[in-house]
Amino acid sequence: MTQQRAQFATRLGVIATTVGSAVGLGNIWRFPFEAGVHGGGAFLLIDLFFIFIIGVPVVCAEFIIGRHTGLNVRGAFRKLAPGRPWGIVGYLGLLASILILSFYSVVAGWTLEYIWQSLNSFGGVTSVEGLHGQFDSFATSDWRPAMWTIVFLAINYLILARGVQKGIEKMSNIMMPLLFVILVVFCINSLRMPAAAEGLTFLFKPDFSQVTPSVMLGAMGQAFFSLSLGLGCLITYSSYFKKETPLLRTAGIMAWLDTMVAILAGVIIFPAVFTFGMEPAAGPKLVFEILPSIFMHMPGSMMWSVLFFILLFLASLSSTISMSEITIAYMTDEYGFSRRRATAYNIGVAMLLGSVCALSFGSLSGWTVCGLTVFNLFDYVSSNIILPVGGMIISIFVGWVLDRTVVTSELMTPGSGVKPWMVKAVVICLRYIAPTCIGLVFVCGLGLW
Ligand code: TRP
Repeated sequence: MTQQRAQFATRLGVIATTVGSAVGLGNIWRFPFEAGVHGGGAFLLIDLFFIFIIGVPVVCAEFIIGRHTGLNVRGAFRKLAPGRPWGIVGYLGLLASILILSFYSVVAGWTLEYIWQSLNSFGGVTSVEGLHGQFDSFATSDWRPAMWTIVFLAINYLILARGVQKGIEKMSNIMMPLLFVILVVFCINSLRMPAAAEGLTFLFKPDFSQVTPSVMLGAMGQAFFSLSLGLGCLITYSSYFKKETPLLRTAGIMAWLDTMVAILAGVIIFPAVFTFGMEPAAGPKLVFEILPSIFMHMPGSMMWSVLFFILLFLASLSSTISMSEITIAYMTDEYGFSRRRATAYNIGVAMLLGSVCALSFGSLSGWTVCGLTVFNLFDYVSSNIILPVGGMIISIFVGWVLDRTVVTSELMTPGSGVKPWMVKAVVICLRYIAPTCIGLVFVCGLGLW
């Protein structure tokens, strides 16, 4: 490859894009509904364990591989372990990224519908029941959800085809700080609701009698999903990092901000769930039914609602862009496709699969595998199976196979302030703790043992 690889221009750009990848529907839509389904406080605690004890070291592992090789997932493993089967992570990553992109785009499409609905003041409906009914009739309808999924993916195409710095970095720099501010405003609003205390108790008070292997598996899947971990998404992004970027610090900041956003989302959602007498275990529709009811009770409801859904849409966009980048980098690096052509293939396949996912709430709701609709199946298989397996292989690879001098030199870049004990801690986690925990939760959660 003679062409010089693109790089993120600034330090802020690195943080904004990696946080942009991590923060998205995973935090604001998936975290509250999974926590709701799995009993609240205990789920949060296990999620935090997986984010900070397992997640941060595995994020570092992806960063090490990506920055060291400066290549896409497949190329990176081929360079580091030629002729050996480690590159399977690359293929798993490519598969899972397209599955995630497909169902994720459906939910991102819902945000577009809700921007539209907010501009129309939800057709004048103000009652909580009416708003809930509205979501149901929209999600189960035949063409609107599929249409929005396709619109959303088309917007992805336009941004991705422009390339790394111009498209991805610029958008994230502006959007992420704005999202934070608005979440804090909504939090304050929710904390003043009548059932705030009940909501917070549900979210923060762990009830360990609720912890089952499937809750553990759900929390592990959530942690990996939320950190964009296990598919090589972060390998791809870190291949655009500069040599000076401090990897451990970037991983830490990313995990913190990501966790903060998920917790803020929980603090916004659960007081409202209890105030409006809803069932916390409502599943994927939870957040979309609750949010409009929250806004309706705020002064200036339309403005808040439009602003919020625009930000949620942008946060989704910065995440889907990072998913697509896995395949695009692969096709351009390995097969010499032009960026435009690679993007077109990736987005085209996602439009097809995404439409099936969109219809799986309505006319295709009868298509099920093991009781899961196509939408739920894509989510379950990718988040609870492929991401943890990918994360486990990556941690074993960096912990046991990769030359230790590479690990040390990548983590201890000049000025990063990383001490030798920190490198040791990361390595111990990658060698022993992460593979054991992931393996155990995985085997028990799937009921294989
Ligand atoms: N982390 C993102 C979110 O929380 C989703 C995401 C982006 C992702 N890239 C990924 C998940 C790669 C798994 C793998 O919304």
